[in-house]
Amino acid sequence: MIRHFLKINDIPRSELGQVLLRAKELKDKKIRNNALEGKTIIMIFEKASTRTRVSFDVAIEQLGGHSIFMTPAESQLGRSEPLEDTAQVLSRYADALVVRTFGQRKVRTLAQNASIPVINALTDRYHPCQVMSDMLTIYERTPDLNNVQVAWVGDGNNMAHSWINAAIYFPFYLTMAFPKGYEPDHDILSRALSMGAKINLSYDPVDAVKGAHYVNTDVFASMGQEDEQKKREMAFLAYQVNDKLLEHADPDCKVMHCLPAHRGEEVTAEVLDGPRSIIFDQAENRLHMQKAILEWAINGIEVDLEAVSQLLGPVQAV
Ligand code: CP
Ligand code: NVA
Repeated sequence: MIRHFLKINDIPRSELGQVLLRAKELKDKKIRNNALEGKTIIMIFEKASTRTRVSFDVAIEQLGGHSIFMTPAESQLGRSEPLEDTAQVLSRYADALVVRTFGQRKVRTLAQNASIPVINALTDRYHPCQVMSDMLTIYERTPDLNNVQVAWVGDGNNMAHSWINAAIYFPFYLTMAFPKGYEPDHDILSRALSMGAKINLSYDPVDAVKGAHYVNTDVFASMGQEDEQKKREMAFLAYQVNDKLLEHADPDCKVMHCLPAHRGEEVTAEVLDGPRSIIFDQAENRLHMQKAILEWAINGIEVDLEAVSQLLGPVQAV
């Protein structure tokens, strides 16, 4: 079976927990190894990136592998070569694909036609690698995830969807507030709720952050939505994460943002650059998590059922 990572739900629950524990171990022990020795990872990026691109590149290097970076503009993808053909060709050269693009359909098509793992490095629908490193950022501060309340304030976008999916598998409470018209996808939400995710929804940001230990936000307009910036600035006016809003959160709450951020829009500079902010730990953790995800995708992972059960509650071997 090829281990694709197109969304959180692609990793069996026990392995997902183990990937988190492994990322922490890779970080704590500053591990560099030869897990990817002789392996080539091709990264195809159709959107801009600082963190994801560089953390994957460094992760591959620290695991002894080799990376190749491609953009559609400089390859035949930009001249309409089918994804189906591209996936089959690149599978003959490399050991995994890391892909940032627009539609989730594109990563799905690549995965359906590749004989090597495809890892989603962000689509319009999900950003699973980011939410996994955010889980690590929370876990290293609050190992008992049962007692954690994470708030999401803002757009029902790819990050919101990823948090909703994370709440299926990790036992934290997720409280979310969106402006009307910017809710997350109904199917993603109802599936998560039916699978036991503990999620509360509201249109009021005060409701969402009440008592929260971690308050998360993201840009008003994601990549590809630049034309909607002005309209969104109006719609999201009441959804800024600022000191006043945080008065309703837990007194020790931490503020999270996947970055890049727009100070003065979704979050104030005082909050983002203040003592509650853990944004650069989140950014650092991208590296440690990419290493764990790559090891899992390419070599598989051995699950310590006891350790994972402690993290997630009872789990069974796959
Ligand atoms: N958070 C994140 O994915 O950042 P980049 O767009 O810089 O990769
Ligand atoms: N929601 C943002 C996340 C960037 C990392 C976007 O898609 O642009």
